[in-house]
Amino acid sequence: MKFPAVFSCFVLVLPFVSASVFTFTARADLTTSSRRADDPAGDDTTSGGDNDTNAQAVQDTSGTPTNDTSVLSLSLGLTELLAAFFDQGVSQFTKEDYASAGLPSWVYGRYVEMADHEKAHQQSMMAVLDKLGAEKGQVCQYNFTTVDNVRDFVKLSEAISEISVSATNGALRRVKNEDVIGVLASILGNEARHASWINSAVIGKNPWNTALETPMTLSQRFTVVLPLVASCPESNLPLFPQELKNFATLKFLDRIVPGQKTQIDFGSIGSDDGTLLHAAFNVGNGTYIKRVYEQDGGYYVDLPQELASKGAVFVIIVKDDIQNEGRNGLIVSDANTIAGPSLLMFPFDSEGNAEPSYDVFKFGDYDAENVH
Ligand SMILES: *[C@@H]1O[C@H](CO)[C@@H](O)[C@H](O)[C@H]1NC(C)=O
Ligand SMILES: *[C@@H]1O[C@H](CO)[C@@H](O)[C@H](O)[C@H]1NC(C)=O
Ligand SMILES: *[C@@H]1O[C@H](CO)[C@@H](O)[C@H](O)[C@H]1NC(C)=O
Ligand SMILES: *[C@@H]1O[C@H](CO)[C@@H](O)[C@H](O)[C@H]1NC(C)=O
Repeated sequence: MKFPAVFSCFVLVLPFVSASVFTFTARADLTTSSRRADDPAGDDTTSGGDNDTNAQAVQDTSGTPTNDTSVLSLSLGLTELLAAFFDQGVSQFTKEDYASAGLPSWVYGRYVEMADHEKAHQQSMMAVLDKLGAEKGQVCQYNFTTVDNVRDFVKLSEAISEISVSATNGALRRVKNEDVIGVLASILGNEARHASWINSAVIGKNPWNTALETPMTLSQRFTVVLPLVASCPESNLPLFPQELKNFATLKFLDRIVPGQKTQIDFGSIGSDDGTLLHAAFNVGNGTYIKRVYEQDGGYYVDLPQELASKGAVFVIIVKDDIQNEGRNGLIVSDANTIAGPSLLMFPFDSEGNAEPSYDVFKFGDYDAENVH
């Protein structure tokens, strides 16, 4: 039986969201974990709740105990999505379409290779699930209708390859079984090469981000991927980790410029209970925190200047309370997240100079001159 995944997942997942996100259970998280916020940048904090607050924090990627096969099943879902996406990119468009988009002739062939890799990833993951005696989910249908030309395809390939690397990184933190670690680690390396090739050879930008990769939690990955799912057998959901939350969508409404204010939208879930909201910019092993403020009925945040030249940055909106004064010791985790992630790109050249930044999911903004 098919169902519209977005609808059904909301039904199943929202109770988790409302139970844990809109209560103060996050408080325990903040206090117990504050000893972990001992990164050197902690003293960078200026207190007082002004817009300039630019503390650094850490992202807690742990979660409720889950089991390895459920993490692997979720990862298999993402791999299926990647396979479907690359297949579409090489069947919907011809080699000539790639050439007309100004791309070298070898680009098409590499996307064909990546489509094959994704199928091999699926086979390897399914072999591990079989070995562990775990049930495998049914194939889902995906929705890439926003892609109607080669440039959109390249841009979305940049986004989902970055997501795949960060999601696999996050998944590896949640598993113990050697076979599961083995298959995820092999796939992580290959996905990182894909992301690197797309960003540098095709788009002409930085081949990597910072020295350390940025992990995504299981719920962050679920949130980002869900809009690309058209339908899925309902029987797949129990195979996934039960902790999964679907956070609100975070949108950036203005241009993305480090050090400048930008308007954001994350639905109607404001800070009506008086808690402070912060934007957390996850980069490598750390997080820059900026206060979210209201102005003329909209929400704004000042993008940290430090994001320039950081590459891919995952942004989420987190809750904090006034007593905590926000930043010192704030642990960013699924427990205090209300929206996002969104993926922003802060490219840099080989001398580390910043190039124009952008929201990777906004096709219209794509600077055609950036693709060579
Ligand atoms: C993050 O990595 C840097 C090295 O790049 C290290 O100095 C710092 O202590 C790390 N922070 C955390 C919170 O692990
Ligand atoms: C934050 O910045 C906005 C716009 O610059 C300003 O209107 C507002 O008063 C500032 N808020 C605080 C608490 O400084
Ligand atoms: C592990 O997760 C799977 C879903 O992938 C579930 O069917 C199984 O019962 C779980 N095993 C344990 C021991 O919780
Ligand atoms: C596919 O995604 C587009 C854009 O988000 C949306 O308008 C459309 O309704 C979706 N179609 C399906 C079948 O989910």
